[in-house]
Amino acid sequence: MTDRYGVFGNPVGHSKSPMIHADFARQTGQDIDYEAIEPPVDALAEAWRQFFADGGRGANVTVPFKADAVTLCDTLSHRARRAGAVNTLIAGGNGLTYGDTTDGIGLVRDLAFHRVSLTQKRVLVVGAGGAVRGIIEPLLNEQPASLVVVNRTAAKAEQLAEDFADLGAIQGGGFDSLKGTFDLVINGTSASLTGELPPLPDSLFAPNAWAYDMMYGAEPTVFLQWAGPRGAKLLDGLGMLVEQAAESFFLWRNVRPETASVREMLRQSLN
Ligand code: ATR
Repeated sequence: MTDRYGVFGNPVGHSKSPMIHADFARQTGQDIDYEAIEPPVDALAEAWRQFFADGGRGANVTVPFKADAVTLCDTLSHRARRAGAVNTLIAGGNGLTYGDTTDGIGLVRDLAFHRVSLTQKRVLVVGAGGAVRGIIEPLLNEQPASLVVVNRTAAKAEQLAEDFADLGAIQGGGFDSLKGTFDLVINGTSASLTGELPPLPDSLFAPNAWAYDMMYGAEPTVFLQWAGPRGAKLLDGLGMLVEQAAESFFLWRNVRPETASVREMLRQSLN
């Protein structure tokens, strides 16, 4: 019997998840159907109930529902509770849903795919919104020398650093608090969506540093266009998208799909 999965988002038409999971299923011989579901922005609960009542086995959750999903899950993974976000749902027995987040693992796996080590490196994260909350714990687990979080609204970065301080060396502040250079700078703001650039100093990158934008598109983001001439090697968030999907697929099906060919296919689909 075909098992039913899906992604809740609004808008969801642009989502690459159906394409990615269809490829994973083909590769691994899993009999699944994966659909895009677009509930009204204030009505996730109703669509969710319907989906699982109709036999849905699991789902992804994307913008703008990742925080709402936390309140609808019956149980949460430790990391989802800490992140305050859910991107993966699993139907348990008795109509219960379990929520987890694979975004941070997706980022760390993508960095590993590109042989970018975090251990003992100085890492800067720009932004302190929902997307950034999801990546902090997995980043700290890699034991960087330090993790600095800067945000336009400094208080949000300070709060975030306080919330994760028990997990490792993390500091938060405003852009004016930035000092020194970094081996990896991750743009986790939504500024790329509007073609804006966070106010970063020119001398931000250490030799051989990487610039990573969690967004991606057919063209490099404004942040990556800025970082290239300043000496950084560049990565966008396409690989993170594929790796977080692979981890969701693994949680659902207990099979690990291969990701290199899916990255390639997705990159080509952008052109
Ligand atoms: P998401 O779910 O994508 O994280 P969010 O929670 O609304 O969305 O967070 C957006 C993040 O991008 C915030 O860190 C925001 O900074 P503020 O907290 O000061 O609002 C950041 N951001 C958005 N536009 C920005 C810009 N033009 N320059 C710098 N930071 C920006």
